Amino acid sequence: MSDFKRTLVTCALPYANGPVHIGHLAGVYVPADIYVRYLRMRGNDVLFVCGSDEHGVPITIKAKKLGCTPQDVVDKYHGIIKQAFSDFGIKFDIYSRTSSATHRETASEFFKKLHDDGKFIEKESEQYYDEEAGSFLADRYIVGTCPKCGAEGAYGDQCEKCGSTLSPDELINPHSAISGSQPVKRATKHWYLPLDQYESWLSEWILDGHKEWKVNVYGQCKSWIDGGLQPRAVSRDLDWGVPVPVEGGEGKVLYVWFDAPIGYISNTKELLPNDWEKWWKSEDTKLVHFIGKDNIVFHCIVFPAMLKAYGDGYILPENVPANEFLNLEGDKISTSKNWAVWLHEYLQEFPSQQDILRYVLCANAPETKDNDFTWKDFQTRNNSELVAIFGNFVNRAVVLTHKYFGGVVPQNLKPEDVDSETLAQIPQIKKDLEYYIENYKFREALKEAMNLARLGNKYLTDTEPWKVAKSDMDRTASILYTSLQICANLAIAFAPFLPFSTEKLNRILNVEQLPWDLFATEDILKSGHSLNP
Ligand code: 2FM
Ligand code: ZN
Repeated sequence: MSDFKRTLVTCALPYANGPVHIGHLAGVYVPADIYVRYLRMRGNDVLFVCGSDEHGVPITIKAKKLGCTPQDVVDKYHGIIKQAFSDFGIKFDIYSRTSSATHRETASEFFKKLHDDGKFIEKESEQYYDEEAGSFLADRYIVGTCPKCGAEGAYGDQCEKCGSTLSPDELINPHSAISGSQPVKRATKHWYLPLDQYESWLSEWILDGHKEWKVNVYGQCKSWIDGGLQPRAVSRDLDWGVPVPVEGGEGKVLYVWFDAPIGYISNTKELLPNDWEKWWKSEDTKLVHFIGKDNIVFHCIVFPAMLKAYGDGYILPENVPANEFLNLEGDKISTSKNWAVWLHEYLQEFPSQQDILRYVLCANAPETKDNDFTWKDFQTRNNSELVAIFGNFVNRAVVLTHKYFGGVVPQNLKPEDVDSETLAQIPQIKKDLEYYIENYKFREALKEAMNLARLGNKYLTDTEPWKVAKSDMDRTASILYTSLQICANLAIAFAPFLPFSTEKLNRILNVEQLPWDLFATEDILKSGHSLNP
């Protein structure tokens, strides 16, 4: 465990322009929730912060499409997302939103201080303007052909096909997403964060100082930094967002990627108005951002540069364990194409099967490369792993204890070597599991938990208590005593991953959640302790 006194865990704020889907879950929210549950079980002081990202062009485009206001859009999806996370057992300490008053004030003050401290460059430039619609075409309001891969329909900030970050000027054959018309150029003033001035500092901090970051994260940072950083506009000509709070800012708002990460701070403030600073301004706090790969540059380069520019003791992330993408049945998940498994719909369909999805998404998480979700794999992992290994072992151990010992943990009357040899494997499993979680390798960690269930299954298959019971109840007692100790260890090992099943197991074992410290210790369930049916 690290030397920090507390850990602040943030998850990317999902855009409130649609519900969350399995890609979001596998990449960001499931791993973060596992990490937080694990740290909490180990007695760490943890704060888990998230909320909806309610600004930006995707929201206003959606509103236009639906014929409603942007506020209607974010109200609707914020509600759906918040409820779905909660029903899925993602336990944030706060899930707020960037349209909150606290956020508006915080983001506004942040911009103003950077402005007043002279940290921005003010620059007039020619930008695309839609004369029919009477507005500038920022980010996704302009579409065209991707200069990198040739895909049609690339946006002014990004090509969804190849993932390249773009600027409107790079698009081939640009046209307005509002009216479809050919845009003209018009002069407009904006504020820029001069990232070039932070280049050597970023290089030292990340490229020299954080070689332990995931290869995909480190690699992206290196390629951005080596490519030379440019000043980045932090304002936009839009009417939806946090208004630019300085002179000349009329009719302009903060760029969504300027205000959104400040949302982590605002939401902490909203939850802890008098105590938020220790989470953000103390070297004793470990800050970890869980995000998807498309957010790496903002969390590793832009936001840290903003915090550095602001000063005042803000800490920087200790790690940014970004994941790659999850595909669905071989195709890229897409909100606009409605190709996704939506969390709220999954929960309607399978109201008490959160853990199957949590299990599958973790077992198949896109930690090092893009992965594919298929319903066939979902079925196989449920039937051959959760049911056939974990469920089967617990079921046999508990049912046999009820059958032969009236549901009471028997005494260890006739121990044999196989018992101690089996239990002796648990400390290594625990150690590996801890190592993997602490190093953001959640798939491997989950495998260790499942290996513990495998160990239990093998033990029962080797010792065959249902046969031994015909002639030797003392030996049967020892076998079931040993099996129940394994069950108790499982109720600890699986707790960060499968909270709903663990709760069920705790109920069966008739225990409160067992603390992590008991993992791999002896005699967790005492002889004479009654199980529930
Ligand atoms: O990519 C996204 O979905 C963004 N809404 C993530 C924002 S993360 C943070 F900076 F708020
Ligand atoms: Zn492209």
